[in-house]
Amino acid sequence: MVEKNLTLIEEFILLGFSELPNIQEFLFVIFLIIYISILLGNGLIIVITNMEPALQIPMYYFLGNFSFAGICYTSVTLLRMLMNLWRQKRNISLLSCAVQLCFFLILAATESFLLAVMAYDHYVAICKPLSYPLIMNHKMCVQMVIGSWVTGIPVLIGQTYQVFSVPFCGSNKLNHVFCDMPTLMKLACGDTSGDEFFIYIDCFLFALIPFLLILFSYIRILSPILKLLSTIGRSKAFSICSSHLIVVCLFYSSDFIAYLQSTSSY
Ligand SMILES: *[C@@H]1O[C@H](CO)[C@@H](O)[C@H](O)[C@H]1NC(C)=O
Repeated sequence: MVEKNLTLIEEFILLGFSELPNIQEFLFVIFLIIYISILLGNGLIIVITNMEPALQIPMYYFLGNFSFAGICYTSVTLLRMLMNLWRQKRNISLLSCAVQLCFFLILAATESFLLAVMAYDHYVAICKPLSYPLIMNHKMCVQMVIGSWVTGIPVLIGQTYQVFSVPFCGSNKLNHVFCDMPTLMKLACGDTSGDEFFIYIDCFLFALIPFLLILFSYIRILSPILKLLSTIGRSKAFSICSSHLIVVCLFYSSDFIAYLQSTSSY
């Protein structure tokens, strides 16, 4: 019976925001403003961290790379969404969808690895200040940055291949603004619980390992901070960490909520 219902899907329709036909122009303008702000903000960080000699230290290399990854990450999803709002067309070919998913996953992994590297950098700076220049030498920084960029690539290409090797049948409507994994898996037919299990395990590993590294670094950072007697030292350590912690919380909580929501039945 399942065999009979298999129709070859050639493209998907991204339904996101189609239920609000009257405010498409408004949405376009809002998201364009958001996108331009992201480009300007992150672009400025990249320019400043590369130009200013006083900022030629590891912390700002990582920040520059994080901003660059952020620009790529948002471009992968927001640009396509803006284009769809502009054209008033929502179709996306299977290939574009796979490419989008693949880049999205790789860049998400890069961002979370870079966040972990930054946490480690803070840990060394605060807990081992004397050996900081030795540990965080240029070679080490370059290796950690390259590692963050390339580690995910082979696994996540395989992952994308796995998602798209599951047969899709019936509906080709994705209830989302871009090709994300949980939404795609909802359109898979037959018993895919085994595939889904492995697909999510992979994903959680790439989010979980960096997250645990960050947690571990902060646990190690916290104890000397609490022991510091001088309030100046404490507030300095706190100011180094607080903005990073805010970004970590925003990054993981938004991804976590998005994935929980799309795996639930709503
Ligand atoms: C990324 O990191 C590398 C190595 O630390 C550094 O040379 C490069 O300038 C950084 N890129 C940006 C955009 O800041």
